[in-house]
Amino acid sequence: MRRVFLWAARNTWLKERLPRLGFMQRAVRRFMPGETMASAMDAAGPLQAAGIATMYTRLGENLASLAEADEVAAHYLAVLDEIAARGLTGEVSVKPTQLGLDHDEDATLAHLVRIAEHASSTGAYVWIDMEGSAYVEHTIRLYERLRAVQPRTGICLQAYLKRTADDISRLMPLDPAIRLVKGAYDEPEAIAYRDKRRVDANYLGLAVRFLLDGRDRPIRLGLGTHDVALIEQIAAQVATSGIGRDRFEVAMLYGIRAGEQFRLAREGYAVATLIAYGEHWYPWYMRRLAERPANVTFAIRSLLP
Ligand code: FDA
Repeated sequence: MRRVFLWAARNTWLKERLPRLGFMQRAVRRFMPGETMASAMDAAGPLQAAGIATMYTRLGENLASLAEADEVAAHYLAVLDEIAARGLTGEVSVKPTQLGLDHDEDATLAHLVRIAEHASSTGAYVWIDMEGSAYVEHTIRLYERLRAVQPRTGICLQAYLKRTADDISRLMPLDPAIRLVKGAYDEPEAIAYRDKRRVDANYLGLAVRFLLDGRDRPIRLGLGTHDVALIEQIAAQVATSGIGRDRFEVAMLYGIRAGEQFRLAREGYAVATLIAYGEHWYPWYMRRLAERPANVTFAIRSLLP
């Protein structure tokens, strides 16, 4: 099932047709408050009131030409201004291919630097999403170059990849900000753990190791997962070494385990909700369906008016 949806996420024929269907548009609303930046930020109110921070990402990946990246970068500058204008505790999360990584690494870096400089001036922060494995090395290199000039920046790393332990060691001298996720793409056995238990075990080991190794350093760790049992296991393991909950954050997607997001915030965890918006939601939504078969039932129920 997971592989079928991940295949559908990449299929251009489906990508052109499925998003036009009314039931698909109704179903995606569960994870996305709307297609505009304003709708995303309107959804932040109840979260902010409960002490939950927000992150914003405009959906879209793999540009047809580098020129489109200028518009995307300008959009993120406007998002940062709007976060400040609304007084939100907000950050942005961007995909490197949305800023032109398929076309020109230096130009992508220049866009990231501009966005990060602006984030720094408004008191925000920029996260770089991690895409499929073909982009991992380029993305890590981009982050190394970005971080050298702009510290208010972080990178997403995927626990299903066998290389991630080495990538964390490689980034450690930078005192990095890492958002650790399990990984959302269809990757081959040669480079990725495909068994959920192994991914979970690797996630646990990577998070605990990073917190222990970075205990006296200004690192930042975001646990980008809805796996609450795993989050609590990590918290318990590091607590035995005197590392408290204030040393990491929990990041979840809008509309997923919302009750748990509020509960964790009430229990003293730093929680952030990533709110996605935009017209190009199709591949992203397919990846959400791939993660959980129950979402497919929900999508089918949306066939009803
Ligand atoms: P897991 O799949 O084990 O799910 C644990 C529980 O969470 C499930 O039992 C269910 O209750 C709930 N759940 C999980 N997914 C759900 C869904 N789609 N719908 C409803 N319930 C669900 N990936 C990537 O490759 N690159 C990236 O840059 C990012 N960025 C990112 C940011 C943030 C803030 C989050 C939370 C996630 C990402 N991801 C990502 C996605 C990530 O790799 C992963 O695919 C999903 O988070 C699903 O895995 P979980 O860690 O939630 O665990």
